[in-house]
Amino acid sequence: MNIPVLETGVILIVDDNPNNLEVLSETLMDRGWEILIAVNGEGAIAQAEYACPDIILLDVMMPGIDGFTACQRLKLNPVTCDIPIIFMTALSETVDKVKGLSLGAVDYITKPFEHEEVLARIKTHLQIRNLTKQLQSHNQQLQQEIADRLAVETKLQKLTQELEQRVEERTFQLSQALDNFQQAQVRLVQQEKMSTLGELVAGIAHEINNPVNFILGNLNHASEYTQNFIDLFKLYQQYYPNPEGEIQQKIDEIDIDFLMQDSPQIMSSMYKGTKRLAQMIHSLRHFSRRDDSVVQPIDIHEGIDSTLLILQYRLKANSERSEIQIIKDYGTLPPVECFPGPLNQVFMNLFANAIDAIEESFVTRSNSIANFPKIAASNIHLLSVENKGQITIRTALHQQSSVVIIKIADNGIGMTESVKQRLSEPMFTTKPVGKGTGLGLSISRQIIEEKHGGTLSFVSEPRQGTEFCIEIPLLSQRHF
Ligand SMILES: Nc1ncnc2c1ncn2[C@@H]1O[C@H](COP(=O)(O)OP(=O)(O)OP(=O)(O)O)[C@@H](O)[C@H]1O
Ligand SMILES: [Mg+2]
Repeated sequence: MNIPVLETGVILIVDDNPNNLEVLSETLMDRGWEILIAVNGEGAIAQAEYACPDIILLDVMMPGIDGFTACQRLKLNPVTCDIPIIFMTALSETVDKVKGLSLGAVDYITKPFEHEEVLARIKTHLQIRNLTKQLQSHNQQLQQEIADRLAVETKLQKLTQELEQRVEERTFQLSQALDNFQQAQVRLVQQEKMSTLGELVAGIAHEINNPVNFILGNLNHASEYTQNFIDLFKLYQQYYPNPEGEIQQKIDEIDIDFLMQDSPQIMSSMYKGTKRLAQMIHSLRHFSRRDDSVVQPIDIHEGIDSTLLILQYRLKANSERSEIQIIKDYGTLPPVECFPGPLNQVFMNLFANAIDAIEESFVTRSNSIANFPKIAASNIHLLSVENKGQITIRTALHQQSSVVIIKIADNGIGMTESVKQRLSEPMFTTKPVGKGTGLGLSISRQIIEEKHGGTLSFVSEPRQGTEFCIEIPLLSQRHF
């Protein structure tokens, strides 16, 4: 950087000797510098503060405060501390020179004055002074720039923070809206699913119910009549042991002994089958109870049992696996005020998930064995010691908190950490397209929490199994 050196300057000469003042003033004025004069220390300080000269030439010995004291006070004053001070001292006074320099003076000139030397020294210090001033002003500019930039940066940071906060708020609002939307969607699907399924099932059950009851009622009579015919025939046999040829021929043809033995059995199995059909219809009607809008005291166990009866076909053995065993450990429960239809739907979802998990466990197991026969034997969890799928249902009433607890545990595939973490998301499923919608648990949670003021929780271990726990407070304890 090429800074032009200004040789103009204002010089304050401080001396109590008029001769010295005159000589110096003339010499310096000839050079075009502006000259200020003070004849004692006090005057020098006052002038320096007022006029801010570029250099002060300061005599040591003066009446009043001497040059050293004046120098000290000038250096202590923030207005004058930067003005270079040159002491004027006699050639022999070495001690004064050293003391002056130690007090902050930049140089000294000796008396009697050597003109050329005085001019050279003043010129040099003026140049330094001017350069320093320029540097200071540059520095100030730079500092101002830095301050400006810092201010802009702070403003930017504040704006960024505000923006981030707004984005965060917006994101929060959006995710809440999405949540609400998904909840509403789940509720809609649930209502839709329930009403369509419920209506269908209730309709079919109702239609089948009448003929089945009709058959069941008549079967009693039919078996009684059959028994009467058999008794009557036995009497005939007793009193007419040798019937006409044509009758005997018919008796042989129809194998009457087998007929008499088998007919009551046929009647009995028809009765059992129809009775079972009637039970199934009862369960279906119970399961799809359309009275969803009001709570009513229900027998929770009956709800579970009727749901299991409907799922019977899924529990049976198939080519892939043996029958799924149901273990019931029912406690004593009072009638619980519930929405029966939706509650049964929860049982249905949890049982269906448990069955799926058990089936998946079989698939995983057989794949592992097929692919890695050696590893499989040692590392892969086998369903249970007897190699059976099991669903355990425990119910209990927690007396103190008046909460009904229903636990449904399976020994199926279990859940990994990542599945567990995503379980509260509606539409989350690990099942293939067409098999799972990922709505079962969301719907169940909504039914338990929103309709019954309860909770739905779970524990699960990969390859060990899963236990879901429904807690429903008795009506008096419900807070929504
Ligand atoms: N008992 C369980 N054992 C292991 N994983 C389970 C169990 N219950 C639920 N899951 C996991 O939770 C996921 C979500 O279950 P959810 O019932 O909500 O939906 P889904 O069964 O996949 O589909 P659907 O809508 O037909 O019920 C399942 O895909 C499965 O990965
Ligand atoms: Mg499911």
